[in-house]
Amino acid sequence: MHLILAARRTEQMNALAQDLLTKHGTNCHIVTIDLAAPDAGRLLMDEIDRLGVNVELLVNNAGIGLIGAIENATPEEVQRMLNLNILTLTDLTYRILPGMLERGHGAIINVSSVAAFQPVAFMGAYSASKSYVLHFSEALWAEARSRGVTVLGLCPGVTTTEFFERAGAPGWLDKHSSQTTFKVVKTALSALEKRRQYVIPGWKNYFLSLLVRLTTRRTAVNESKRYFRSGKRNNKTSE
Ligand SMILES: NC(=O)c1ccc[n+]([C@@H]2O[C@H](COP(=O)([O-])OP(=O)(O)OC[C@H]3O[C@@H](n4cnc5c(N)ncnc54)[C@H](OP(=O)(O)O)[C@@H]3O)[C@@H](O)[C@H]2O)c1
Repeated sequence: MHLILAARRTEQMNALAQDLLTKHGTNCHIVTIDLAAPDAGRLLMDEIDRLGVNVELLVNNAGIGLIGAIENATPEEVQRMLNLNILTLTDLTYRILPGMLERGHGAIINVSSVAAFQPVAFMGAYSASKSYVLHFSEALWAEARSRGVTVLGLCPGVTTTEFFERAGAPGWLDKHSSQTTFKVVKTALSALEKRRQYVIPGWKNYFLSLLVRLTTRRTAVNESKRYFRSGKRNNKTSE
């Protein structure tokens, strides 16, 4: 077994596992799990322990967004998002990183976002959750690097996935330029090899991350309003 895939949709994971086996001879173990559930990190770790394997590379990728005015999301939806984006990611890191440090090798990729660099209107809780992921990852990078372990904060910009459909902004992706997941993964693996603390795939996204340093925080957050003002979840807001 080379890979453990963990998400909710078993069918998609089976298809991916089959593809990886055919193309690369990679064996996958599939865990169907809701990573937004409060005890998800422990349950996943129990499964990994049952398999009797050491995790050499942990990719904390599962994450969701909520796009729209604050009154258009329920507190329960926000809580699930924060459970997934922050709590389970932290929990898994705390459960897996110590073993890597003990063995003196291993790596973690935590998927943050270019939205981590500044507050973003109409996705305030999401962008703040990604700031958490970036800061947490960078701090661990500094702690772990002298002990043979790398922690990378991956900060993609707009990427062609189901993210915007699911976050409440259907069709948004069609109107904006985006990167492929291939490009994002390639950049991440190259940054991991160089043992960088964080990486932003694409120079335009890198420039976007600097915006908050080139202008005032007030201007940066006001400018961010235009990205998602007309999202599906904003029906009740005019401005
Ligand atoms: N797309 C972008 O523009 C963009 C930009 C910056 C950062 N990101 C980040 O990239 C990461 C991946 O998102 P994506 O763009 O690939 O979006 P996506 O296409 O919606 O994929 C999200 C992934 O997370 C899994 N997931 C969602 N909720 C889950 C849950 N409760 N339990 C277990 N797994 C769950 C999904 O699998 P199941 O639904 O089967 O569970 C799916 O594999 C996220 O952390 C996101 O914040 C995305």
